[in-house]
Amino acid sequence: MLAHVTTFALDGLRSRRITVEVDLRRGLPAFTIVGRGDAAVRESRERVQTALINAGFQFPQRRITVNLAPAHLRKVGPGFDLATACGVLVASEQLPASGVERWAVFGELGLGGELRHCRGVLTVAEGARSAGVAGLIVPRECAREAALVDGLAVAGVASLPEVAAILRGERAPELPPPAERRPRGAGAPDLADVRGHSDAIRAITIAAAGAHNILLSGPPGTGKTMLARRAISVLPPLTREEAIAVTQIHSITGRHVGDGLVEQRPFRAPHHTISPAGLVGGGSLPAPGEASLAHHGILFLDELSEFSRPALESLRQPLEDGVVAIVRGQHTVTFPTRFQLVASTNPCPCGHAGEDRCRCNEADIARHRRKLSGPLLDRMDLLVHMPRPKPEALDEEHATSSQAVLATVLAARERQAKRLSGTGLRTNAELTPRLLRQLVRADADAHGALRAAYALGKLSPRGHGRILRVARTIADLEGSARVHAAHVNAALGLRQESVLDGALAA
Ligand SMILES: Nc1ncnc2c1ncn2[C@@H]1O[C@H](COP(=O)(O)OP(=O)(O)O)[C@@H](O)[C@H]1O
Ligand SMILES: [Mg+2]
Repeated sequence: MLAHVTTFALDGLRSRRITVEVDLRRGLPAFTIVGRGDAAVRESRERVQTALINAGFQFPQRRITVNLAPAHLRKVGPGFDLATACGVLVASEQLPASGVERWAVFGELGLGGELRHCRGVLTVAEGARSAGVAGLIVPRECAREAALVDGLAVAGVASLPEVAAILRGERAPELPPPAERRPRGAGAPDLADVRGHSDAIRAITIAAAGAHNILLSGPPGTGKTMLARRAISVLPPLTREEAIAVTQIHSITGRHVGDGLVEQRPFRAPHHTISPAGLVGGGSLPAPGEASLAHHGILFLDELSEFSRPALESLRQPLEDGVVAIVRGQHTVTFPTRFQLVASTNPCPCGHAGEDRCRCNEADIARHRRKLSGPLLDRMDLLVHMPRPKPEALDEEHATSSQAVLATVLAARERQAKRLSGTGLRTNAELTPRLLRQLVRADADAHGALRAAYALGKLSPRGHGRILRVARTIADLEGSARVHAAHVNAALGLRQESVLDGALAA
């Protein structure tokens, strides 16, 4: 007898409908799986056979052929186990065929017949909904994740006998209760921990308000890393739509499995030895890289000059387009990469440029600067110097809390959202040149200040737009409908290339 079971194969951030065909016939007992499966799919035979027997089913002593169709798609991972097992049960008439007509199934089997959680269940569930499938059976730990998709019946099950019960028409079990939420707050890194650096905190506030990229430069031990790690605490909470996109990406890489939505904005801080593929994604079955894991959050490159040139170059496309496209033969997979870039650097190799104890010669400083002025420098909206805080700043009692800063950021974001409503954009950093012209509302003096900076040769045309976007954000933080010359000058003051060679250090 021939059985057909519906399941799904991950393909980037989409999933494709797969029909698992199982054929049983007389002959020497054999168990073959065809249809471009990887090693995990080939090994599936051992898991399926043992799981069926240990869960109390018969494993038919027949020639069993399993085909994962369509055969041209690559099938990766253990998620096809459950569909294969169900197909064997239907083909050997241990289960009615009507069950697998109603339900699609997805999951990895353990040798005892238990179901294991799998990567990418949200993506599978979205595929199931768009394929018009009525219901989806997934491992119990992944049920909440699958249930994020509206209009799809989801059954979360722990073992093969439970799957069999549902396919025989018994009622599906309730969804497990949501896991307890850990409230953010107590213990989370807070801006209040940072002593001094009011200018840098102001810059972080502006960066957060407009989603601008920022580079912090300063001697070792002044708190650059510390401040950068707190930048996430002043970003608005994820919207539901953003949270779903983040969950999807983190789920297919196995970083977030099963437990409903990711609720915190991602903060990714890859080590400087990371490869280009690690940053933007890659692999024979393309997987997202750090740039996509940071989607809707922060990508933090600590000690920017230590990253390899190819790694930094690879960030060009994601920064420019908000997506990466990974091409494998005939096949292209895209992953979104809308992150805010935060980076830190020493102003020279020893880190003390501008101070007496700096031991770097001019050539050292020039080399250091060349490393930095590569592809990313032009994408940095804010370049901020963080000198050693003054002694009195270290005993200062009052500090700015993340909560207070977040309130101003939220107000500024609301003004942006209002101005940008209908454009599909949310923040000033995303303003296209045309929208910038239409919506920025800069007065004549503001334009004059920009022209003056441009005439001095301080700005490229791209830099011109960048300053205007940041000036718009500064005006939004102040609640000013128009951009004035003061806002432009403040934006110009926040992007000083001289911070890179310590000319400002004191
Ligand atoms: N401005 C500061 N306020 C409070 N603590 C600081 C400050 N600067 C440095 N520190 C302390 O020193 C540690 C090292 O700072 P770090 O952020 O790693 O410096 P950097 O990245 O600039 O080299 C921090 O974890 C923190 O404990
Ligand atoms: Mg550091």
